[in-house]
Amino acid sequence: MTNNSQQLPPGPQISFSEFMDKVNDNPFNFLMDLIQKYGDTIYIKLQQKDVYILSNPDYIEQIFTRDYKLFSKARAAELRPFLGNGLLLNEGESHRQHRKIIQPLFLPKSIKSYSNIMVDNIKHISDNWQDNTTIDVLQEMTMLAMGVMTESLFGINFRDRDTFSKVSDSFTNILESFTHVHEPVKNILIEESTNENKKQNKFQDSLDYLNQKIYTLIDHIKKTNPEKPNLISHLMKAKDPDSGEIGLPEKQIRDEIMIFLFAAHDTTSTALTWSLAYLATNQMIQDILQKELDSVLEGGRVPTGDDLPKLEYAEKIFKETLRIRPSVWALSRLTTEEYKIGEYVIPNSSVIFMSQYAMHNSPKYYIDPDIFNPERWTKEFLFKLPRFAYFPFGGGIRSCIGETFAVQEGILALATIFQKWKIVPTTEGISFEPKALGGFTKPKYPINVIVKNRK
Ligand code: HEM
Repeated sequence: MTNNSQQLPPGPQISFSEFMDKVNDNPFNFLMDLIQKYGDTIYIKLQQKDVYILSNPDYIEQIFTRDYKLFSKARAAELRPFLGNGLLLNEGESHRQHRKIIQPLFLPKSIKSYSNIMVDNIKHISDNWQDNTTIDVLQEMTMLAMGVMTESLFGINFRDRDTFSKVSDSFTNILESFTHVHEPVKNILIEESTNENKKQNKFQDSLDYLNQKIYTLIDHIKKTNPEKPNLISHLMKAKDPDSGEIGLPEKQIRDEIMIFLFAAHDTTSTALTWSLAYLATNQMIQDILQKELDSVLEGGRVPTGDDLPKLEYAEKIFKETLRIRPSVWALSRLTTEEYKIGEYVIPNSSVIFMSQYAMHNSPKYYIDPDIFNPERWTKEFLFKLPRFAYFPFGGGIRSCIGETFAVQEGILALATIFQKWKIVPTTEGISFEPKALGGFTKPKYPINVIVKNRK
């Protein structure tokens, strides 16, 4: 029972437009300021919605693990009409059944088998760099992550930069449509003004482009080699939990591919971009990494899956990158019933907002949080750190299915790149300012670096 006299957590009295201005200006600083001022449980009334910002790791743990059934995904309903009902947006029993179908492809043994594909693709990108030239890091890392994903998950060795960049740009356009509007997307789609029509066209063109590419991909696999093991052939052979028939419906396969394209490449490429940016400006860290690589990969041989446990420093670099610039900066959930947390009772249909960026950059859990320091990740530190003071991959049943895949790709990319290249900033330097694109943390300005052959 909701009791009207129940106490609300502290929080700012702010109008919706004021709130949106601050979010559009710099959501990261706005959030950190709010937490500093009001503490780890904050309440904001936004239009008719009750919004709770939680930054207590025990509360976050409770929501993601023990009580996950009491929440739905806050933005899933808005995105579903466009991106479909793939794993990321699916809910309840259907989510559980589809996750069970897909899980075998993400078991540690399966992921280790992708190591060679990963290294091949990383080499394909980085071997093309010319000594003493400038590269656009995000662009290169996007090509790298796309190649790794299409070959490991879809079984096609397709390294077309033009298609990769169009696919990536299409998701950016779709995300921008969701980020820049205050109302659900369907409202902008029926707006009359020319500006909005332009936005609608860009949005619709991007969606059409992705659909066309995905259906061509499904057709290609059906016609060429439906038996070759990969995510798509796996879904074609899986038992449909709804009909009991063999093979998921084509629409569901399209939805899963859309979600994997969406979830897998941008997150990893952004993380690697930040890693390279931090290393370019920290020659000492780069030197320690190169020492590790020269010792583990004797004679300059390429890394393999068996080297992963030995590449400890590379792993710490990737972990520290996901701390200071988590690719996903915040997650939200919707309460499906009244929910008690600490001393507060949160009403049904409230939005709960939990931010990796805020937790990972909090001085409560990290000494000198603004400093990129891979060495902080000692066993002792990890042992003392509350579980949800670090959650770049979310948690519980909805956690990232691709976590091990992404970490392995991150380590192998750092190893393969830094074994051959030294990376330094250009004379313009590097900005570490993040920009929010939906829930993603992108670099606000292009990150360019100079690559120098170590030999
Ligand atoms: C650094 C890279 C990555 C980061 C930081 C990341 C982060 C996340 C986070 C935070 C979630 C949870 C979303 C939520 O709870 O609402 C998630 C879910 C998901 N991720 Fe990742 N991800 C990464 C890479 C990948 C890769 C490489 C794949 C696939 C190969 C992938 C596939 C997925 C899928 C399918 C889900 C939905 C899982 C479900 O709801 O059952 N991600 N990811």
